[in-house]
Formats: sequence, structure tokens, C-alpha cells
Amino acid sequence: MRCDTLWTQARLATCAGDGLGLVERGCVAARGGTIVFAGDAADAPVFDAARTVDCEGRWITPGLIDCHTHLVHGGDRSHEFELRLAGASYEEIARAGGGIVSTMRATRAASEDALVASALPRLDALIAEGVTTVEIKSGYGLDAASETRMLRAARRLGRERPVRIATTFLGAHALPPEYAGDADGYIAMLCDDMLPQVAAAGLADAVDAFCEGIGFSPAQTERMFRAATALGLPVKLHAEQLSNLHGAALAARYGALSADHLEHLDDAGVAAMAQAGTVATLLPGAYYFVRETRPPPVAALRRAGVPIALATDCNPGTAPLTSLLLTMNMGATLFGLTVDECLAGVTRNAARALGRADTIGTLEAGKACDLAIWDIERPAELVYRMGFNPLHARIWSGQ
Ligand code: NIG
Ligand code: FE
Repeated sequence: MRCDTLWTQARLATCAGDGLGLVERGCVAARGGTIVFAGDAADAPVFDAARTVDCEGRWITPGLIDCHTHLVHGGDRSHEFELRLAGASYEEIARAGGGIVSTMRATRAASEDALVASALPRLDALIAEGVTTVEIKSGYGLDAASETRMLRAARRLGRERPVRIATTFLGAHALPPEYAGDADGYIAMLCDDMLPQVAAAGLADAVDAFCEGIGFSPAQTERMFRAATALGLPVKLHAEQLSNLHGAALAARYGALSADHLEHLDDAGVAAMAQAGTVATLLPGAYYFVRETRPPPVAALRRAGVPIALATDCNPGTAPLTSLLLTMNMGATLFGLTVDECLAGVTRNAARALGRADTIGTLEAGKACDLAIWDIERPAELVYRMGFNPLHARIWSGQ
């Protein structure tokens, strides 16, 4: 069988099936950017390879997927970090006009070029750790021009670097000052004007909202979901981060790809997610950075069979984090996830949280050839270390 590249002498964590899909003497073959074989070398067809790479016993995993980020934004919030160190809470700062709205001001003031330039070092940090797909949300523009500028900048990042970008429209992230006291009016504008424009321009792959006391109510969230569904866009939700508004169950009713954060999720929410097949995207970096003390109900999610993804939530307010490896360590140390759950959370289940389980997230024939090749002895090392990067090589689309 002809192929472009054959990686031999590799140990594989294919992440296919339920566990890690470990293969001790494995190989991977790619043609035209797609995996044509991944598995035990003893089962492989005879390949006529244009190029052969001896992996010398290194481990290959699927390229990592960061399925929840706010990577594109203007400015930073190191000043608010100092305020929080002096005792202010995240909610107090937000209610006093800081928080998301302060990043909104910086984002509105930034050109598309400036947004791309400031996001590139963050994207490069992810890429350096073997990340091959990144989801990026809007939500710091909060007017049509700025939200579309953010999404254009996000799409452009996918042309500036060898990485897949999934974009998510998060117009319902915070109430912009123009709509003070009129959250319903803002939601109506999003549903009637802004979202249809964004969808028509092909700028969004999904629609998200922040369902929270300092965000939007379940009724307002549901209006966003209806508008998204009418346009054929899948939904996801920032749910149960600071309180329990039953957003996850609402998201599940709309067949959401994922509900994210979930520290305050209750049993009914878990059951609804399990029934709908909605992924639980956990964000331990945000939990750590805002010094949350209530972890998400991992045992209940596990019992119910809800797929768990892990993501950085890279954003200037609650998670200035650009390491998916550290995120896995936090998932294990802070939330009690196993090594297998952490690795599935940044591969197979992260793909599912983006609605892309058929094309990325595992090492299987027919999927995109996105690989991370690691200088490690055991997969657990990827979760165990803090601040160490054992990436040997990263392959995107077979290159
Ligand atoms: O995912 N919760 C809402 N959105 C972000 C935080 C945004 C911000 O503070 O700038 C989050 O944590
Ligand atoms: Fe977020």
C-alpha cells in the first residue's frame, strides 16, 4: 500500500475506544494528510512509503485539542489579578465595571491585525505542546463590528499557523454598556441581527452563552439557543460556574455539544447531559485561578457515563493559561481525574465537544493525521509533570 509517511518503532496511545488504546509496537501511516493505518506493526499492510520516520520507541498520541478558549482578546487583566490578591472577588470586580467589560474595551480598541498579533504568542505556546486544534470564542467585542473582527482574527490564526481553528460565537458573554438595564434588548439584537450576520458570513461553527447571575438568565440563554438552532448552528454553554441556574440541563435539551465549567452542577443536570450525550468540559485552570473551592461532580459524571473533556479556558480574567499539559495535571490533582480521563479529555472527548469526533481526536484510519510524538516512557508522564514539555515532534495534517 502506498503512503506519504510511515512512522515506525512507535508506542501508540490511539485514544480510540474507551481507554487509551495502547499499542506497544505500533506504526502510523498517512496519505494525503489522512491516517491510513494506526496500530500494531504486526497487523500493518506492507507499505510503499515515500518517507519513513523511525520513532525510536517514542510515544505517539493524537494531536491535542483545546476545546474551550478565549484566545483572541485585547489587553490583559493583571491589574485585576492584583486586586484579587488584595481580597476582591471575581464577581465584585465584574459588578464594579471590571471583568469581561474591561477586556471588551481593550478588544474594541484593537484592530484585527492587533488581535491576531497578540493572540499568536498564546497560540504558539499551545502549539509547542502538541496542540493541533483550538476552539476560539468571540465575546469580548459585544457589538457587531467587534464580534465579527474577533471571529475573523480567529479564522486568520488558522491560516497563519498549521492548526485547526473552531470558532464559537459568544455574543451573550456580558452586557455591553450601551444596553445597561436592557439585557433582553441586547439578547433580541443578538438573535435578530448579530447572530444571523455572523452565521451568513460563515464565521461561527457553534454558539455559546454565559448563563450566570453576572451573565445571562436561563430564559435569555434559551432565546440564543433557539436562534442558533434555527440557523443550524450547534450550541454549548458556560454553565454552573459560580452558581446553579440549571444551565446544563437547558443546554442538554438543545442537544448541546458541551456544557462547560460545571462546578455547581446537580444530579438532574448530570442525568440530562448523559441522556443528551452532551460533553462535560471541565476547566481546572479557571477553578484554580479564581480559587474556587467546590470542584465539579466528577464521580457523578463518571457514574452517568458523561464524556469529560478538559480545556485551558485561556482568557485574561479567570485563566491566563496556555498549557494543556498543565491543564491535565490540574484535572488530575484538583478534580481527581485519572490519567486515562485526562488524556481522553484533550483528545477524543475534546473532539466530540467540538462536534468533530468523526475527523480528529483519535489515531484511526480515516481521521486527519494530527500527531504528537513524545519523549516519554509512559503516557502518565504527560499528566504528572508540571511545567515540563516533552514534545519531540508535532504533525498536523500529515506534515
Ligand atoms: O470562561 N465565565 C465566563 N467567561 C470566562 C471568563 C471571562 C473573563 O473573565 O474575561 C470564563 O471563565
Ligand atoms: Fe470560558
